[in-house]
Amino acid sequence: MDLVVGATGDLGGRITRRLLEQGEQVRVLVRDTSDVSPLKAAGAELAFGDLKELVTLDAACQGIDRIISTATGASRGGEDSVAAVDQQGHATLIRCAKHAGVGRIIYVTATGFNTDSPVELARAKASTAEAIRSSGLDYTILQPTLFMEAWIAFVVGAQIQKGDTVQVIGDPARKYGFVAVDNVADLVLATLDHPDAQRADIPLSGGSCSYRQIVAWIAKAIDRDLQIHSLPPSSQIEGFPPIVNELWSFASAGGMGPLATPKVAEKFGLEMIRPRAFVQQVFGTP
Ligand SMILES: NC(=O)c1ccc[n+]([C@@H]2O[C@H](COP(=O)([O-])OP(=O)(O)OC[C@H]3O[C@@H](n4cnc5c(N)ncnc54)[C@H](OP(=O)(O)O)[C@@H]3O)[C@@H](O)[C@H]2O)c1
Repeated sequence: MDLVVGATGDLGGRITRRLLEQGEQVRVLVRDTSDVSPLKAAGAELAFGDLKELVTLDAACQGIDRIISTATGASRGGEDSVAAVDQQGHATLIRCAKHAGVGRIIYVTATGFNTDSPVELARAKASTAEAIRSSGLDYTILQPTLFMEAWIAFVVGAQIQKGDTVQVIGDPARKYGFVAVDNVADLVLATLDHPDAQRADIPLSGGSCSYRQIVAWIAKAIDRDLQIHSLPPSSQIEGFPPIVNELWSFASAGGMGPLATPKVAEKFGLEMIRPRAFVQQVFGTP
């Protein structure tokens, strides 16, 4: 049986639904503060708990073969701090997994996340990845680039609902790697029984482009005259979660650059969604 941690989130939800569609038995660690009815309706076994509560993790890990964790506190805040969830919570999860005899853990971090990063989330996720590598468990650590849903559809989409100017932190011509969440879910599913995914770190990108290109594609798709306003690093774009502004500054200073992973796509049989195709899916075809 699989345990998905983060199943009420975007990526974890997609992974859970796909596993259930394939006929797998799936337990999900969920909090009673989130809407769990879609997971229950899809056939998931609910284990109520929290990454901050050891006892609930111990119980959730019993009888589990594989854990897939996409959980993060980055977008939650309050008691769900990065330190409590991404670092300490996962350290406890790894201990409970070993104690319960879980065979394998699949963990989602990101390309460019290192233990010496200036960004707390990047340091926490990199140190969790290190703890997993040295845990003795079989593992697969996925390192996707920036999610298109967050960094194209939300970041640009939210701004063009309010006006014709798109604020961009850093140089609009700088290129970044982007990946569609569906492709990350594809990779998780493809790694589950793939021998090359054992004890492996796997990056994934759907392609690289700049915000100048993205905004031009969107302007054409929606037939509007959009302007770009470039902001210096450490700027705060009003209305965006602090983690978005922090990561964008980090990325714009070279922390998360362009990336191509055609060999990964080929090896795991993935049909990658390119940034331009994603823009057309979301904003329309000119
Ligand atoms: N966005 C990007 O560009 C990007 C790029 C590369 C990698 N990633 C990584 O991809 C992963 C998935 O992202 P996503 O967009 O699916 O995230 P998300 O939608 O924000 O989901 C976060 C999940 O973590 C759970 N969670 C938070 N605190 C918890 C706690 N204390 N105990 C148990 N569960 C807790 C949430 O549960 P509740 O609903 O109960 O709060 C939710 O299910 C993340 O690890 C992220 O760092 C993201």
